[in-house]
Amino acid sequence: MDTIVNLCKRRGIVFPSSEIYGGLRSTWDYGPLGAELKRNIAAEWWRQMVQYRDDVVGLDSAILMAPQVWQASGHLETFHDPLVECRNCNNRFRADHLKDPNTCPNCGQKGTFTDARQFNLMFKTYMGPVEDDASVVYLRPETAQGMFVDFPHVQRTSRRKLPFGIAQIGKAFRNEITPGNQIFRTREFELMEVEYFCPPDEGQQWFDYWRAERMRWWRDLGVREENLRFHDHAKEDLSHYSAATTDIEYNYPWGFDELEGVAYRTDFDLKRHQEASGEDTTYYDQENEQRFHPHVVEPAAGLTRALLVFLLDAYHEEEVRGEKRVVLRVDPRLAPTKVAILPLSKNPELSPLARKVAESLRRRWMCEYDETQAIGRRYRRQDEVGTPFCVTVDFDSLQDDAVTVRERDSMAQDRVAISELDAYLGTRLLA
Ligand code: GAP
Repeated sequence: MDTIVNLCKRRGIVFPSSEIYGGLRSTWDYGPLGAELKRNIAAEWWRQMVQYRDDVVGLDSAILMAPQVWQASGHLETFHDPLVECRNCNNRFRADHLKDPNTCPNCGQKGTFTDARQFNLMFKTYMGPVEDDASVVYLRPETAQGMFVDFPHVQRTSRRKLPFGIAQIGKAFRNEITPGNQIFRTREFELMEVEYFCPPDEGQQWFDYWRAERMRWWRDLGVREENLRFHDHAKEDLSHYSAATTDIEYNYPWGFDELEGVAYRTDFDLKRHQEASGEDTTYYDQENEQRFHPHVVEPAAGLTRALLVFLLDAYHEEEVRGEKRVVLRVDPRLAPTKVAILPLSKNPELSPLARKVAESLRRRWMCEYDETQAIGRRYRRQDEVGTPFCVTVDFDSLQDDAVTVRERDSMAQDRVAISELDAYLGTRLLA
């Protein structure tokens, strides 16, 4: 984990937010490469969950929602964790995360914990200039409620029949008692969620489908099979809204832990919103002339947590000709930079051609142009951030209008005509 955190900081992928003020605990900024990686993960999720399917539509709902939403959804009442404080060192912990419930993990004292009190995880703020009870609003702790509250509108306007899903990617906020492990658990994070609405008697079938489908997605993007597993929740551990939940777990440096949750939320949310708002949230099945509340299956993945997993899983160290090589074997679809254009040396004869090559590729691929340092070191810099291809412009290029293309994983090199370069990269990057 330290290796990844250091790589992230050194290469400006992810680093502590507000750092010049000493940082703000558990908030992180995504630098140029991190922002690209996060966008690429989100894009690949959207492509496969929305674009490639004709039964899922997208949504982008507001972070601030009417406070009644959280009353109806049960979050005000039940979205809390048990908090204990050590009377000796005043550190606070989640009671259910303590290895030894009698010993403080910070100061080592025994029997110093206060009784657990339930701590609501929602961030509270005020809307408008007056800070009173009537103006309280919450930062959403999940994007899901936007999909439930908007279900009748989206269903009507997109003229969808069951089964169909609504997908959303967006920020969520939870006032976690113990954030940690870099971006694994933070107070501000991003979610990628689908609410899949189906007839009540198809709930179990779609729950099984989405468990498998989401596992397929992680594997398709290169996460190693042995590092992924399912974990079915016991009945007593289920969230307040769930009839069944399976986590997809990843083998982090500290062991298997949650990566994504697939929950069978039944008709809990739609019914609660109808009761609380007085508005009809049912679906009308024209064929069978029946009106009912659809059941819902929800695959919910953390985008920021996904970014950590793709980095952890892709990171490799190997020895090449007696030297250590760090290589991020991330799927080319996710790689922050697709092509690095490297003139063999910083030279007034090579630079113009190399820049021309870079300009011709930029419209299609995220490129980086780098002409400083020895070529070997520049290859290594690209390897450790996962750039799939390096294009080298050398003195022969001035004569033969060709460049050397080096592939990241095999380090194999091909001589490719500049006129063929775009097509050559296209077949390999879009494979
Ligand atoms: N709407 C359902 C829902 O939000 P969840 O299991 O609480 O379900 C879904 O969260 C996913 O969001 C988790 O599997 C995890 O990947 C991510 N996640 C949850 N809390 C997080 C946090 N504090 N920081 C980063 N990611 C988090």
